[in-house]
Amino acid sequence: MKTVIEMMRGGIEEDGIRRAGEILKKGGLVAFPTETVYGLGANALDETAAGRIYRAKGRPSDNPLIVHIADWKDIFLIAEEIPEQAEKLADAFWPGPLTMILKKSDAVPLTTTGGLSTVAVRMPDHDIARALIRAGGGYVAAPSANTSGRPSPTTAQHVADDMDGVIDMIIDGGPAGIGLESTIVDLTEGTPVILRPGYINEEMLGRVLGRIETDRALISDDDTIRPKAPGMKYRHYAPKAQLFIVEGEEERVRKKINEMAGQHALRGGKVGVIGTDESLGYYHEGIVKSIGSRLDEISIAQHLYGILREFDELDVSVIYSESFETPQMGQAIMNRLIKAAGHQIIYV
Ligand code: TXA
Ligand code: MG
Repeated sequence: MKTVIEMMRGGIEEDGIRRAGEILKKGGLVAFPTETVYGLGANALDETAAGRIYRAKGRPSDNPLIVHIADWKDIFLIAEEIPEQAEKLADAFWPGPLTMILKKSDAVPLTTTGGLSTVAVRMPDHDIARALIRAGGGYVAAPSANTSGRPSPTTAQHVADDMDGVIDMIIDGGPAGIGLESTIVDLTEGTPVILRPGYINEEMLGRVLGRIETDRALISDDDTIRPKAPGMKYRHYAPKAQLFIVEGEEERVRKKINEMAGQHALRGGKVGVIGTDESLGYYHEGIVKSIGSRLDEISIAQHLYGILREFDELDVSVIYSESFETPQMGQAIMNRLIKAAGHQIIYV
């Protein structure tokens, strides 16, 4: 299959959106930008189309997809019940990087929800994404547009690296703004529960909802607790290299990374180091990259997946990374980084 690239870095281009919408209506696959990461879209109400997403990604069929909508009124067709909490959250955060889990209606095929009786719904804060959703019929199922197990794509090039020749179209809207997937909140059982941390954090949700909990599987080291979002159990975002996170006081972290990088290089290994704009000058071994600035936490979120992909291409055997407990997105950033590291953390 030839994958068409539609350039829209300057914003919506009507003809391209129309062509993309036609592809979705016919059951095809279109990758598109959102404010979080690139999505791989198909008609969410068409079982066969949704099935194609799983095949293109190599995704396990029990890992449900998020249904993207562009207009609030469209939620009523796909959700059986709209709790008051959903309205409050939509008022506060939609369009935006928040996904809500609701009871599904019969309009949503089980292929889309990975066999579950609930449906994940999100309204992205991105003009191209919303125009595409409307052009495609209103309901676009879209996981991140990466091959399963690879870091989520934050540029159209990342999508092409994984999906060229496999999907119908990629819309290039430039780099994603936030760089990490949406926050997921389950509203199907009494107290709302965060299933995946993101840009919209616990405190922001708490201000709107009052009580809010976090899925125990996210905060525990106990692997036997099953996360409620099926996708969170997979070792996502895994770089080819062994990744170690070094955590502790700034000076000691830098010293420890230099020491370990030096030892690894002596043994003949190729080393990568993930630092920040502030610490870059302190490292003197291996390939050193800045993930962003500690003064701008979004810059760190934005580059996390990209930097893991870059190190994959450079074929390093070990990566040492600083830890990024930033104020708003720290939980989300560290959730992804710790998973990528397979929980290998060195405390200094
Ligand atoms: O920011 C995002 O949410 C991006 C962009 C493209 O919108 N999408 C995304 O989709 O991250 P994906 O498929 O990579 O992650 C969806 C997550 C998975 O962990 C999945 O298991 C969970 O949402 N999920 C989907 N439906 C669910 C449901 N009904 N109940 C529990 N978890 C669900
Ligand atoms: Mg994903």
